[in-house]
Formats: sequence, structure tokens, C-alpha cells
Amino acid sequence: MLRVIQRALRPARLVGVRFHAEGEGGRPEWQDPKSEDEVVNITYITKDGDEYNVRGKVGDNVMYLAHRYGIEMEGACEASLACTTCHVYVLGDHLERIPGATEREDDLLDLAPFLKENSRLGCQIILSKELDGLRIQLPRATRNFYVDGHVPQPH
Ligand code: FES
Repeated sequence: MLRVIQRALRPARLVGVRFHAEGEGGRPEWQDPKSEDEVVNITYITKDGDEYNVRGKVGDNVMYLAHRYGIEMEGACEASLACTTCHVYVLGDHLERIPGATEREDDLLDLAPFLKENSRLGCQIILSKELDGLRIQLPRATRNFYVDGHVPQPH
């Protein structure tokens, strides 16, 4: 049984589990933490401002963890760095604790709608203990040029 989500600032809400893509249920993000030592708490804030607190764990991918809990972060290219549909904003000083973006990620982010200084691709953020308390906000919209057939060219 999944023990999941409590809202931080608003009344508690449970989020239904869904399987975003076939086979995703076998990913490590679908496994609960085995001990408190590996727990990494993360808050997702939807484009509507709803907040969801999730107990992730060290090594979890922020995008796939969102999928586990039905949070709308798309991920069209399945973390292969070929889209921007996993675009997120990293709030507060956690941004400095995440390893810097690669050139490829930066190039993609340049194509993302509603780009901000704290933009990152969610599929490139892997949870570590240092990231406990991470707050991730989803943008108003994303653009899926990957599925639309537009492939970004390397510079
Ligand atoms: S899912 Fe496509 S870059 Fe993250």
C-alpha cells in the first residue's frame, strides 16, 4: 500500500497512483524508501498552485517520482534529453545544491517556454540527501517539440 502525500500548507490530499508509461512501475521510484536514512522529502507545486509532499529517496529521478504520484510532469522523451516537457523551477537555495546543467540540458532549456533563472529539466535531477526539502514548481505550460517532430540541433 502506498503511503503517500500530505499537503504541506493546505489540507491533506491524496493523489491517485497512475502508471504514466507502460513498464514505469518497475522503476526504482516505485519502491518506497527502505529506511529513514534514505528518505528525501520533496514538494511538487502544480501550475495551479497545489502542493504535494512526497517521500522520495536517494537516487530517485524527480520526473519519474512525479509520475508515480500522478503529478503532471510529462517527460515525452523519457529522460533522453530530447524535449523540454519535464521543465520545472527549483525554488530556494536547493538550486545551488543540484549539480549544474550539462550543455545539452542548457540548450534544451533555451527552447522551453516560460524559462526562468531557476529552470531545470526534472528528469536530470536525481535526489540526494542534500536535496531534502526540495521544492519544485511546474511551469504554466510546456511545449512538446519532440513529439511534434522538431528535433533541436546541437550548436
Ligand atoms: S523528459 Fe525529455 S528532457 Fe526530460
